[in-house]
Amino acid sequence: MIPPHKVDEILGAARIDEVIGEFVNLKRSGSNLKGLSPWSDEKTPSFMVSPAKGIFKDFSSGKGGNVVTFIMEHEHFTYPEALRWLAKRYNIEVEEEKPTPEQEEARNERESLYVINDFARNWFTQQMWETEEGQNIGLSYFKERGFKESAIQKFQLGYNPDDYQAFTNTAKSSGYKDEYLLATALVKEKNGRFYDGYKGRVIFPIHNLSGRVIGFGGRTLKADKNIPKYINSPENLVYDKSSSLYGLYFAKQSIAKEDNCFLVEGYTDVISFHQKSIENTVASSGTALTKEQIKLISRYSQNITLVYDGDKAGVKASLRGIDLILEQGMNVKVILLPDDHDPDSFSKEHDRIEIKEYLSKNAQDFIAFKAALLMQDAQGDPIKTNEVVHAMVNSIALIPDSILRSIYVNECSRLMSISESALISELNKSLRKNHKQSFRGNNRRDEDFAEAPIIKTDFNEQKKFDEDTIEHQERDILRIMINYHDRMFSLEDPLEDEEAEEINILEFMLDEIEGDDLRFETTAYKQLFDEISRVYDETEKFDQNFFIHHDLETIRSLFVDLMTFPYNLDNWERMEIMVVSEDQKLRRAVIESIYAYKSKRVERMIRENQLAMKDSSALGADPTPYLETQIKLETIKREINKTLGRTVLH
Ligand code: GTP
Ligand code: MN
Repeated sequence: MIPPHKVDEILGAARIDEVIGEFVNLKRSGSNLKGLSPWSDEKTPSFMVSPAKGIFKDFSSGKGGNVVTFIMEHEHFTYPEALRWLAKRYNIEVEEEKPTPEQEEARNERESLYVINDFARNWFTQQMWETEEGQNIGLSYFKERGFKESAIQKFQLGYNPDDYQAFTNTAKSSGYKDEYLLATALVKEKNGRFYDGYKGRVIFPIHNLSGRVIGFGGRTLKADKNIPKYINSPENLVYDKSSSLYGLYFAKQSIAKEDNCFLVEGYTDVISFHQKSIENTVASSGTALTKEQIKLISRYSQNITLVYDGDKAGVKASLRGIDLILEQGMNVKVILLPDDHDPDSFSKEHDRIEIKEYLSKNAQDFIAFKAALLMQDAQGDPIKTNEVVHAMVNSIALIPDSILRSIYVNECSRLMSISESALISELNKSLRKNHKQSFRGNNRRDEDFAEAPIIKTDFNEQKKFDEDTIEHQERDILRIMINYHDRMFSLEDPLEDEEAEEINILEFMLDEIEGDDLRFETTAYKQLFDEISRVYDETEKFDQNFFIHHDLETIRSLFVDLMTFPYNLDNWERMEIMVVSEDQKLRRAVIESIYAYKSKRVERMIRENQLAMKDSSALGADPTPYLETQIKLETIKREINKTLGRTVLH
């Protein structure tokens, strides 16, 4: 934890133009700075920095934010990592909160384990490259497998001599403590005797994100089926299996660049792919994929492609892993290699171009893949088919994005020849179940499922259109609130009515929306609107900086996204939506955005009321309450349209 006053100090010191200037060549352009986007290969600069507002916006990738988010995006850092980076850049000492004695001890132990791992890695490589046994057995094994020297060096592969105490003796005489040596399991103990844990094995060091060695895989060179093929480090203070991925340190840059991550099974698969310049490859090392591992990948890309052996064994067991990925809102594809091939053997038989071509031609969307796989097993048996439908629907229900969900429903319906409405009704059941669970679990997904069910059975073009425009209008309202918050405004035109009382635009808009008890529908917009309203109620102030540095990433990035740069003002003018320099036009934009929105919402309420009336009259219920509602809504609609007409027609 970086203490809050330190965070303030860092944010106060960091100058966005200086910091970004270290990565992007910036040129002055009016009150802003302009440069080439660091996230695309553009020729004309569309990357803007506003030193006055303390924000940047990249119009080619859509990214935008404050100085901290820039470092996060550019360096793939977490929020605290980015703050530390800035602290260092501005020579600000970040004293962490004082560690407890236990924390102190854990830190010492962690450091000791890193040091031992580093020592071991060094020694293993030295043994392999510089001793006769190492060259004849270890190095020649790797070479026979087709690993090039460059790859062997890059991955820091090594060899533990075939001797009971080769490593143990060296480590002990170098002064490493038994306790720590045993924690790495490179040294083991039985009846007071210490011996090598990786005796006679070739060594694959496992690195963390910053390239430090956290553990080892050791492969036997014996064909004996009774001994384990691999020995892997046990978990300890530096090695947490569920949150590390083999090869990620070497793959991260390429994953970001290719915007995709290939996930393979083993050490050798990773190395073989890297050797063929397919560097965006990592392995989960034989264990089932975990949520933490997926989160690690998602720092670099939202796309994961699972590469499976052709024999399909284990593919079904991996379906759970796919669900985990979907749950994180990431996209999953699946590639099956030809019969009897794993990535390692496949890349030995083909050149780089052939492999790339195979991978791109054979990547299947997970839906098609899972449906085909399960349907094959069901073989037309209706009970089994029913189970398959449930399995598919449960997977789709995990996807946070509602539009993606409906696309998948449609595809699934086609693939399994099951009506879309049957699938939707199953999906809604599943969504409601997840909704309840996530309320209990109280995790982030509450928001996404706040209004389950998301897909309605009468899902049609009209509704889609309504949602699109409502989303658009909510965005416009926020945009005006944020950028013109302090400009004064009155519903009566001050040119016509001198008595007209003016309030600031922010207050006007908050009143209009909240006064009518309208709540925004789009999750992200609602979150920002509610926060603006909360802060304004509490402080009677609107401070852009508060939002630019907001604790919640979603609020920060949306806010900056909605802040205007001259660049998108140009766009507005071109599209003739509004020209902001003139008061009259701003007036019009305010009224239009609020009343067009209200009008749309009321129209929808009217339609829904009519549907409800139809349903209830089919059941023989009294339509009077619905008719009353109808009349009220029609009146509101007329009022709204009158105000709207008055301004718009002027
Ligand atoms: P090669 O057989 O040398 O090609 O290695 P591989 O990496 O392709 O191994 P394999 O496909 O058999 O297994 C995939 C991964 O599972 C390995 O990279 C290991 O991480 C893990 N694994 C395999 N065998 C064992 C074992 O006996 N014990 C443990 N703990 N892990 C294993
Ligand atoms: Mn293999």
